[in-house]
Amino acid sequence: MLQRAEPQEFERVLSSMCTVPHPAAREAAERFLATNPGDPGTYETVADLEREAVEYLGDITGLADPAGYVSSGGTEANIQAVRIARNRADTDDPNVVAPVHAHFSFTKAADVLGVELRTAPATDYRVNTDAMAELVDEDTVCVVGVAGSTEYGYVDPIPAIADLAESVDALCHVDAAWGGFYLPFTDHDWHFGHAAVDTMTIDPHKVGQAAVPAGGLLARDRSLLDDLAVETPYLESTDQLTLTGTRSGAGVASAVAAMESLWPAGYRQQYETSMANAEWLAEQLSARGHDVVGPELPLVAADLSVPMTDELRERGWRVSKTGAGEMRVVCMPHVTRSMLRSFVADLDWY
Ligand SMILES: Cc1ncc(COP(=O)(O)O)c(C=O)c1O
Repeated sequence: MLQRAEPQEFERVLSSMCTVPHPAAREAAERFLATNPGDPGTYETVADLEREAVEYLGDITGLADPAGYVSSGGTEANIQAVRIARNRADTDDPNVVAPVHAHFSFTKAADVLGVELRTAPATDYRVNTDAMAELVDEDTVCVVGVAGSTEYGYVDPIPAIADLAESVDALCHVDAAWGGFYLPFTDHDWHFGHAAVDTMTIDPHKVGQAAVPAGGLLARDRSLLDDLAVETPYLESTDQLTLTGTRSGAGVASAVAAMESLWPAGYRQQYETSMANAEWLAEQLSARGHDVVGPELPLVAADLSVPMTDELRERGWRVSKTGAGEMRVVCMPHVTRSMLRSFVADLDWY
């Protein structure tokens, strides 16, 4: 079976938030495949690379002295952010307040950490902060904003969310897992330099063009990460703050390689290309009478009918739907204008 199996081609993938790794990232992933940054005392080179990755992520997110690590993905980073908030708070009944469109990893976080998840509705695809204000109380440990939502690519009002978190002495976590490598080239207020953000998720293995697995968790202050540390008696190092134990150095090395190759000029160019593609697709869909949401970042959602979406899937297009039923196209780096032209041609055939 394995000899005949080929990995997924990306030429018709419009639904994924993963993409083709940058060539330097692929090469670095292969080279560091058998290293374990979970044991930094033994695997010192990859541990140094991880510090470099965190420095790059700090540059990208406006954080001068960043603390953090390369996680297995956005899910781990979000769980860990909630864990930090829960562990440092003084309550037996902790809750997290998040937008209704927060990624489902917060549902997992709430479940494994025994925290109540309270979700606030959105107005025009951004969280309604008045509704959030009604949900917070003295047991709120974390208030979450999403900078590039999974379904629509919209950015929540991060400064207002940070103010709200501060008002109840909770942490402010920003989930920029997908949007974080596009947002530096926009005029959104989303990062540590724009608001009193405490922790952030930003994933090199999405728009950052690193190989999977390379998520990112950042904290404004090193002491926040101390809330995660457990002792590791049988390792050469003394403690560990990741959720995973052994983890491949492939993600760490490829994250550094991708950011070294692309930050900032390559990512800027990618943002401009992907945004232009998203705007082009939105125009094409509107011209055909579809209601289109966005694009605010390079992600387009439109009200294509279920039979139409099914026909596109029959033709090999990987497209997904939002919870409300719109078809959604994520303009990742592998999504080119010529791909979108043939996608629209297939739509016209229908
Ligand atoms: C905003 C956001 N946060 C978190 C995640 C989870 O990331 P991962 O699948 O890498 O765990 C995603 C995945 O698409 C996402 O879009």
